[in-house]
Amino acid sequence: MPKINRYVDIDTVEKEAKKDYIDRHSPFLHCADQAEAGVPFAVTVKVGDQYTHPDDLDHYIRSVSLYNGTTLLGEANFPAGLLGGQGAKGNLEVTFKVVPTGKKLNLTAMAYCTKHGLWESDPKVVTVR
Ligand SMILES: [Fe+2]
Repeated sequence: MPKINRYVDIDTVEKEAKKDYIDRHSPFLHCADQAEAGVPFAVTVKVGDQYTHPDDLDHYIRSVSLYNGTTLLGEANFPAGLLGGQGAKGNLEVTFKVVPTGKKLNLTAMAYCTKHGLWESDPKVVTVR
């Protein structure tokens, strides 16, 4: 079982190295605040906001998952080298097209680093019309 880490607002963190560590592993949800029922809705998950993560053979972001509450909506798996390989750094990004049902989506994303475990995003609620 990998270690599970939860995103912490880096503005509240004092040490630069700690900010970098938290930010570069955390998945960030990018989508509109409202969606239409039955119409495909784009949800982009970007790993890292202000800092980039390594893309080395023994240390890279291997997967990104998107949840609505406890329901898995999508999962994307990546090999090392997607962002340029040994020595390269970047912000992995993937867009899921979700068809909303119900009155709202309770979105959460997870990112898995091969060295530093699972990282959970801040939740985001999307109203479904
Ligand atoms: Fe890492």
